[in-house]
Amino acid sequence: MEQYQRVVLFGGVYNNYLALQQLLKTCDRIGVDAIFCLGDLGGFGPHPDRCFPLLRDGRVLTVAGNYDISLAQGEEDCGCGYTDPRDNYFAQVSYDYTFAHTSDENKAWMKTLPPQRRFLLGKHSVLLCHGSPRRTNEFLWESSSPDHLLEKFATDYEADVVCCTHTGVKWHRTLPQGRNFVNVGVIGRPENDGQPQVWFAVLDQDGDRFRCRFHPLEYDHEQLAAEMKQEGLPEEFIATVLTGWWTTCLEIMPAKERQRGKF
Ligand SMILES: [Fe+2]
Repeated sequence: MEQYQRVVLFGGVYNNYLALQQLLKTCDRIGVDAIFCLGDLGGFGPHPDRCFPLLRDGRVLTVAGNYDISLAQGEEDCGCGYTDPRDNYFAQVSYDYTFAHTSDENKAWMKTLPPQRRFLLGKHSVLLCHGSPRRTNEFLWESSSPDHLLEKFATDYEADVVCCTHTGVKWHRTLPQGRNFVNVGVIGRPENDGQPQVWFAVLDQDGDRFRCRFHPLEYDHEQLAAEMKQEGLPEEFIATVLTGWWTTCLEIMPAKERQRGKF
């Protein structure tokens, strides 16, 4: 198994090639052993095909998200797992646009992505997945993920550190026996905190202890918003990019996370 000292992790690109470009530049600047994407390359933003050359040229090691599996298999929806009709309406608009604008070559490439990846960070074994180790589209929110569930994932899947994304909101929890659970967040859209920046995670060690730090990433969000407008994407999505407040995907969010937002 590959062993690293310092890695960058991020999830949910959501077609945001401008944030991805900026992140890869940041990785060059800070110096990392490897870069991992935890899946969901499409959805939400403009020009889906622009992300793939960046991922390949940047040697980003990618895990399949529900979105990537749906696109690769020609499914009719994103398989995100929303339950509210309004959330599903916007998810469908986004999926139909992304499906129509993703090349067959890139869909075939997504088919090759593994559902999980493993590596060593120093002596800590790390497992990467998209939603949870047991389900690609499981939503693991900070407020609704009890310690015993996270510990069960770590023991059942034999990892000291388990990392996921899918919800779009980052968090980290230290568990007993030196185990850790991390939701790495997403770079595709802001975190419902009123700021246009997005977030990624850096994992390394402080001495022998596992360390996870989240970093904000600024990118040209006004340019992204302008391109979304040109592509006829929903005003609701554009507002999120410009203001940092979510306007959709809200019904699936637990009350505790939702009350931090504006809507
Ligand atoms: Fe997802």
